Amino acid sequence: MKVTWISPSNIALVKYWGKFGIQFPKNPSLSFTLKNSVTELSIETTNSENQNKSISLNFYFNGELNTKFRDKIIIFLNSQLDRFPWLLNNHLEIHSKNTFPHSSGIASSASSMSALCLSLLSLDEMINGVTVEKSEFYKAASELSRKASGSASRSVYGGLVSWGEIESIPLSSNEYAQVFSHGHSQFVDFCDSILIVDSGEKSVSSRAGHGLMDNHPFGDIRHKEAFANLEKLIAALKTGDIESFISVVEEEALTLHALMMTSRPSYILLKPNSLELIEKIRHFRNEKKIPVCFTIDAGPNIHLLYPKKFKTEVCQWIETELAHFLVGVRWIHDEVGNGPKLLESIK
Ligand code: PMV
Repeated sequence: MKVTWISPSNIALVKYWGKFGIQFPKNPSLSFTLKNSVTELSIETTNSENQNKSISLNFYFNGELNTKFRDKIIIFLNSQLDRFPWLLNNHLEIHSKNTFPHSSGIASSASSMSALCLSLLSLDEMINGVTVEKSEFYKAASELSRKASGSASRSVYGGLVSWGEIESIPLSSNEYAQVFSHGHSQFVDFCDSILIVDSGEKSVSSRAGHGLMDNHPFGDIRHKEAFANLEKLIAALKTGDIESFISVVEEEALTLHALMMTSRPSYILLKPNSLELIEKIRHFRNEKKIPVCFTIDAGPNIHLLYPKKFKTEVCQWIETELAHFLVGVRWIHDEVGNGPKLLESIK
């Protein structure tokens, strides 16, 4: 049997930072799902007659065997043996590739882990000969993805997606994400130009960063602030209030990095050019009256967000004014996308 899914990355507007239990978020978050930054992942199974003692898996990343990724996936799959007992009597060949470069400020764990979990659930349906109702399938995929990588829970849906319990979103849950369908037309075709300031490995992983939120000196304040910011963002998204959207999104990005700088031990992922770009973006917005703003994930690279109708002007400005602050592939154009797609399923 073989299944192939394409699943996108996402960019958080209100950030998930800090977790408890089996990857439950300390606060709710909300993101835009991306369109072009995707992982294509296939799993091919061959039945082995006997029950193996351990999972048999080859993992190929960009066509080459990758034991580092394989080992990470084995840990996750081992935690899911009760859910997928067939993992022990099948050999698995997994091929994965991303459309975007490694360490480019695009969350590869969100796209790759959601693609993996969607593929596992599709195989599970085939093996058990059942078809799960579509909305239940995606809910299960989001829940499973959450356990592999928190932010991956949001990648199984397109558009604006929230994850985590909050009063103003009915049926919201810490277990899985859901589509936020009340976004004003202003926000349906947003662009995200990812400005690459540094493409090196980060000095502190997100996993370690989440861990430092336990006993963080400002942990309780962050907790309250995240809820308040999400409420403000929800109101802005519903009414199309782009000024309020910008102020929450930028505040969230800077808060994330302020939390890193005040962790014990403290650390800094921003680079001097990240700050240069922030200054330039704010200056351009004030001068040109074009609603561009920035957000930043756990890294130095800047996500430039703006409505699509300003794309030509913004891209010109990036080329002429910002490009010399950037390295390597320099910048990647993306925009809001529709979510994952099943490419192939062969019995
Ligand atoms: O899903 P993780 O464990 O890689 O954490 C992601 C954390 C941020 O990207 C910084 C924020 C978010 O909500 O995506």
